[in-house]
Amino acid sequence: MACALPHHLFFFFFFFLLFLLPFSTVAQTNGTVAVGTSITANTKDTPWLSPSGVFAFGFKPLQEKNLFLLSIWYHQIPDQTVVWYGNDGIPISTGSKLDLTGDRGLVLSDPQGNELWKSQFIVDSVAYGFMNDTGNFLLVRSDSFNLWESFKYPTDTTLPTQIMESGGVIFSRLSETNFSQGRFQFRLLLDGNLVLNTRDITTNFAYDAYYISGTFDPNNSSNSGYQVIFNDAGFMYILRRNNQRFDLTPQQLLFPTTEYYHRATLNFDGVFTQYYHPKSFDSSTKWTPIWSAPDNICLNINGEEGSGACGFNSICTLNVYKRPECKCPPGYSLLDPNNTYGSCKPNFSHSCSEDDINSGEELYDLLPLKDTAWLTCKYEHLQPASEDLCRKSCLNDCFCVVALLLNDSCFKKKLPLSNGRQDRSVNGQAFLKFRKSDVPLVRPPPPPIPKPEKKGGTLIIVGSVFLGSSLFINFVFIGAVCLGFFVIYHKKSIKNSHGDHCAAETNLRCFTYKEVAEATDGFKEELGSGAFGIVYKGAIQMGSRVVVVAVKKLDRLVQEREKEFKAEVNVIGQTHHKNLVCLLGFCDEGQHRMLVYEFLSNGTLASFLFGEKKPSWNQRTQIALGIARGLVYLHEECSTQIIHCDIKPQNVLLDDYYNARISDFGLAKLLMLNQSKTNPATIRGTKGYVAAEWFNRKPITAKVDVYSYGVLLLEIITCRRSVCDLENGEEEKGILTYWASDCFQDGKLDALVENDMEALNDWKMLERFLMVGIWCIQEDPSLRPTMRKVTQMLEGVVEVGLPPSPSQFSYTN
Ligand SMILES: *[C@@H]1O[C@H](CO)[C@@H](O)[C@H](O)[C@H]1NC(C)=O
Ligand SMILES: *[C@@H]1O[C@H](CO)[C@@H](O)[C@H](O)[C@H]1NC(C)=O
Ligand SMILES: *[C@@H]1O[C@H](CO)[C@@H](O)[C@H](O)[C@H]1NC(C)=O
Ligand SMILES: *[C@@H]1O[C@H](CO)[C@@H](O)[C@H](O)[C@H]1NC(C)=O
Ligand SMILES: *[C@@H]1O[C@H](CO)[C@@H](O)[C@H](O)[C@H]1NC(C)=O
Ligand SMILES: *[C@@H]1O[C@H](CO)[C@@H](O)[C@H](O)[C@H]1NC(C)=O
Ligand SMILES: *[C@@H]1O[C@H](CO)[C@@H](O)[C@H](O)[C@H]1NC(C)=O
Ligand SMILES: *[C@@H]1O[C@H](CO)[C@@H](O)[C@H](O)[C@H]1NC(C)=O
Repeated sequence: MACALPHHLFFFFFFFLLFLLPFSTVAQTNGTVAVGTSITANTKDTPWLSPSGVFAFGFKPLQEKNLFLLSIWYHQIPDQTVVWYGNDGIPISTGSKLDLTGDRGLVLSDPQGNELWKSQFIVDSVAYGFMNDTGNFLLVRSDSFNLWESFKYPTDTTLPTQIMESGGVIFSRLSETNFSQGRFQFRLLLDGNLVLNTRDITTNFAYDAYYISGTFDPNNSSNSGYQVIFNDAGFMYILRRNNQRFDLTPQQLLFPTTEYYHRATLNFDGVFTQYYHPKSFDSSTKWTPIWSAPDNICLNINGEEGSGACGFNSICTLNVYKRPECKCPPGYSLLDPNNTYGSCKPNFSHSCSEDDINSGEELYDLLPLKDTAWLTCKYEHLQPASEDLCRKSCLNDCFCVVALLLNDSCFKKKLPLSNGRQDRSVNGQAFLKFRKSDVPLVRPPPPPIPKPEKKGGTLIIVGSVFLGSSLFINFVFIGAVCLGFFVIYHKKSIKNSHGDHCAAETNLRCFTYKEVAEATDGFKEELGSGAFGIVYKGAIQMGSRVVVVAVKKLDRLVQEREKEFKAEVNVIGQTHHKNLVCLLGFCDEGQHRMLVYEFLSNGTLASFLFGEKKPSWNQRTQIALGIARGLVYLHEECSTQIIHCDIKPQNVLLDDYYNARISDFGLAKLLMLNQSKTNPATIRGTKGYVAAEWFNRKPITAKVDVYSYGVLLLEIITCRRSVCDLENGEEEKGILTYWASDCFQDGKLDALVENDMEALNDWKMLERFLMVGIWCIQEDPSLRPTMRKVTQMLEGVVEVGLPPSPSQFSYTN
C-alpha cells in the first residue's frame, strides 16, 4: 500500500470490474463447510465464504499464472487483501486440492496426491468447518468445541476479535509478493513486553528490538502484559495481568467497525500498521493507516547485529507514510536486482595490496553525503578531527570505506555497512570512498556553485543519491545541474543589469526617504497594494546603473516590532535564491519604513494564470516547481527559517523568463507578535489559502506554507481561482480544493484541465502534480509532506503515494 504507484487508481478500477462479476454470482452460504468437502486450485472452484461473504477461504490466484495461495482474504473489496495463509506461504500449482476431513482436519495435497500441509493438532473428530465473518476459519467438534482456528496461527495480520497470547509471534512476509517468513517479527514476550525485532532468517535468532512497549514490570508481575487484544470495536491494546490496558490504537477512534473494516499487519518492510477501509467502497477506496510502529524505522533499528531496516550497505529514508525506502549509495548496486530492500555491493574492489596502501589519495576519492550515516561498524574514532583530517585519514587507510564526521568526531567504518540512514536528524556528513578508475568523470561533486547557493549544492548531491546507484549517472546529473545553474547565472548577468548584485553576498543599501521619494517621482506610479501597504514603481541609481525598482511602503507595523525591523530586514537581505524576489535595500527613517525590491517585468502569477489566455502546461509546471524550490530554500536552507504565511498567486512574481519569484517573504514575522502561538486577531494569510491550524490554535509551522502551496498548485493545474463565484450548474467547482479532490477520487482528471491537450497528453505528470497537491492540502499538518519532499515528488525523484481524502483524519482536537 505504501508505495502505491500512480497507476493504482486504474488497477483498482480494473480489479473492481473484474471481481464484480464473480461476486454477483456468489451462491448463498451460511459459512458452514461440511466434512468431506474439498476445493481444487483452479479458476472455477468458488472458495468457502463467510455468511456475509466478506471473507473467503480457499485458493487465491496469484499474479504468476497457474499459481495459487492457500489463504483467507477479504473477498468483496477491490484489492482482495490476504489476511492469513497456509502452507508457510508457499504458492501451489493448479490442480492441488484442499480436503476437510473428519479425522485430520484440513489437508492440502498436490495434484499427484502428495500431502503438502495440514492443520495442526487435530486429534478429535471434526463435525464441520466454519468461515466466520470475523475472518477466522474454525474446525468445530460436535459439542461446539473449537478444535482449530486460523486466528490461533496468525501469519502477518491480525483482525478485530483476534487475541495474541504471551509468547505469540507474527512474521512479516519476505516481500510484497513473497509470502514466506521475512526478517521482521512482532512478538509478545513471556515477560510481558510487546516488541518488534529483526532476526536471522535461517536460525530465527532474534536481534535487538526496535520497538518495545515497556509493559514489563520486574518488581510487580501484575503490571506486566499478557495478551495483545484487537477488540471488535477496532482498538488494539496490551492487557496487563491486573486488567489494565496499555493502548496501542489511539484512544479517539473515528472509524467505527460498523462502517469500516480494520486490520493490523506487520508489513514486509518491518513497520507494523493498523489500517481501516470503508465497507461501502468504490474503485478509489483503499486501506488507510491509523497508527504504526515504530515512529521512524530507519532511525529506530540500531543494533550491532543485522543489517538494519534495509540490507547491508544500503541507505534508508522514511517516506510520507512512515515506511522505509532503501537505496544503494552511489557506486554500489543491488545484490539481488529484484529486491530493492536488500543488500548492496560495491562496484569496485577494496584491497590492501601494496599499491593501495601507498597511494590512497591517487587511487580513491570521497563522495560527501549529507545527513547520512551508517551507525555501526566503526573501527576507529578520531577526536578532535577536522573534515580535512577525516578525509585524509580515510583515503590513506585501505580498510576505510566510509568516514563519518559528527561534530568534531571522525569515525572510520568498514564493510559491510549496516543501519544506513539518511535523515536530517543525523546532523553529520558521510564521506564515501570510491575508486577513481571506476568512474569515467573523475571530479567528485563540485563546489563550483557560488557561495550563497552552497546549500543548493548539497541538496543536489543528496537528491542524486535517490536517482540511482550509478555513480556515472550521478556525475552526469550533477554536471547537468551545474551547467543549468551556470546558464541561469549567465543569462541573468547579461539580461538583468542588477542580477549580479543579488547573486553576490552584499550588504543591503540603506536609502534615505528623500532618495526613495525622488526615485518614485513622489510615489506616483502605484503597482498594487497588499496586506503591508502600497507598492510603487521607481528607478534608482545604483553604482553606475539605473535600476527599476518596486518600493513597498509598510504602513501597519506593530509598535513593538519597530525595533526588530532592521533585524528582520537583514534576515531577508541574506536570502539569495533564483526563485525569490531580491531585496536591494530599505529605508528606515522616522516613521517611514520601506523595502526596495528589484522590479519584475511580467507581473504576478495571478494575472498570468487567470488572464484571458491560458498559459501553457509546460510553463505552468516549471512555475510550480520554481515556487516549491523557493519555499524549500526559505524553510530549510536559510540561516533563520522563514515561514511565508501568505503564499498565493498575488505574491508570486514572474521575471523576464517567466521564472517564478516569491515575494513578501519574511514580512509575516514583522506583523505578528509570536509566530508559534496563534492569536485569532493576528491570523495572517488570505481566505482560500490558509490552513486549519490558524483557526484551531495549533502551532504554526512551515506546514502552513505547504497547505497554501497545495492550493496554489491546484490553481496552477486548473487555471482556476481557489474560491470562485458560482455560476449556475457549476456549484461543485466553487471550492477548488473540494472539487479537485472529488475529481481525483472519481478519476476525472480531464475535467480539471478541460480541453488542455498539452496537459492531457502529459497524463502521468498531471496525475503526479494533482496527487502532490492533495497531499499538501491535508487537514492534518503532520500528513502534509515537507516542501523538500514536495519538490522531489514533483520532479519524479520520489514516488507519490495515493493521497487520502484531505479531511479524512478529522483534525479536531
Ligand atoms: C448451513 O446450511 C447447511 C445446508 O446447506 C445445513 O446443513 C447447516 O445446518 C446450516 N448451518 C447453520 C449453522 O445454519
Ligand atoms: C463468529 O464470530 C462471532 C463474533 O465474534 C462470534 O460471536 C461467534 O461465536 C463466532 N462463531 C463461531 C462458530 O465461533
Ligand atoms: C520466496 O523467497 C524464498 C526465499 O528466498 C524462496 O525460496 C522462494 O522461492 C520465494 N517464493 C516465491 C514465490 O518467489
Ligand atoms: C523496581 O525496583 C527498583 C528498586 O526498588 C527500582 O529502582 C526500579 O525503578 C523499579 N522498576 C520499576 C519498573 O518500577
Ligand atoms: C503491584 O501493583 C498493583 C497495582 O497494579 C498493586 O495493587 C499491588 O499492590 C502491587 N504489588 C506489590 C507487591 O507491590
Ligand atoms: C528478477 O525477476 C525477473 C522477472 O521476475 C526474473 O526473470 C529474474 O530471474 C530475477 N532475477 C533474479 C536475480 O532473481
Ligand atoms: C554534536 O553537537 C550537538 C550540539 O552541538 C549535540 O547535541 C550532539 O549530541 C553532538 N553529537 C555528538 C555525536 O557528539
Ligand atoms: C555497478 O554495477 C552494476 C552491475 O554490475 C551496473 O549496472 C552499474 O552501472 C554499476 N555502477 C557503476 C557506478 O559503475
